[in-house]
Amino acid sequence: MSQTHAPTKAVIPAAGLGTRFLPATKAMPKEMLAVIDTPAIEFVVREAADAGLDDVLLITSRTKKSIEDHFDAVPDLEAALAAKGDTAKVDLVRASSNIATVHSVRQQNPAGLGHAVLCAAQHVGNEPFAVLLGDDLIDERDKLLREMLDVQGQFGGSVIALMEVDPAQSHLYGCAAVTPTDRDGVVRVNDLVEKPAPGTAPSNYAVIGRYVLDPAVFDVLRETPPGKGNEIQLTDALLTLANLPAEQGGTVYGVVFTGRRYDTGDKLGYLQAVVQLASEREDLGPAFTGWLREFSAGLPQA
Ligand code: G1P
Repeated sequence: MSQTHAPTKAVIPAAGLGTRFLPATKAMPKEMLAVIDTPAIEFVVREAADAGLDDVLLITSRTKKSIEDHFDAVPDLEAALAAKGDTAKVDLVRASSNIATVHSVRQQNPAGLGHAVLCAAQHVGNEPFAVLLGDDLIDERDKLLREMLDVQGQFGGSVIALMEVDPAQSHLYGCAAVTPTDRDGVVRVNDLVEKPAPGTAPSNYAVIGRYVLDPAVFDVLRETPPGKGNEIQLTDALLTLANLPAEQGGTVYGVVFTGRRYDTGDKLGYLQAVVQLASEREDLGPAFTGWLREFSAGLPQA
């Protein structure tokens, strides 16, 4: 069980192979794919920092060096831009190195999300911490992570984010069986299944990629055998935690999210994120939405 500190650390697993975006990800990490002009992972690091977690640990692998570079300073580029008097671009380049203190550790073999989280054990120590999955972008206007931290402060234990999904999509997610608590939008998690076979999900509540975890999860992960896909699954460790007594770091709550989430790990979701965020940007929105209206008016009727 954790010491009683409020969380200060965020862990972002970013070691995956990114096969869904081949060939773009043949020589480039999928986390660096641009959502308009910003790598997807920058949104996630920003979200952690906005929620007060400015110690960020990236779980990377051999091919992900450019992610670490993105959060580092680039003195040569800054000097060249400054010499041209382009202070706006100097600020843009500096912005991503000043979001948070970014550390990284490598996952040496791709043994699953649970294994990736276990790679954070030494850095995190004995405090609750957040895990943010890079494929899920949460709109910055929807303060999901903040609410989860607040729920963890009130209830203790671990907190996951849940979203109601169409039952036909349940097999793509971890799915939870839940009972209500006395706080609106917060449930107690009683059962969890990673990617259930169609028609067998315990409910329509799918796990989305935000977690606030008690450090007891590390000992549980060490004992968790490979599950779905022969990988060590975080979902399986969470089920063990859900059944452990609170004094041992157990119990799992869920925050039911009804806000805006973009699944940038999926090609359609990625396109939707780009279009929606571009239409809302002050600099691009007016011109882009004007074009979009004309373009969609010319589409053949479905
Ligand atoms: C992971 C988790 C799954 C969760 C999903 C959310 O799966 O294992 O439980 O529902 O993230 O995006 P992945 O999408 O990495 O296969």
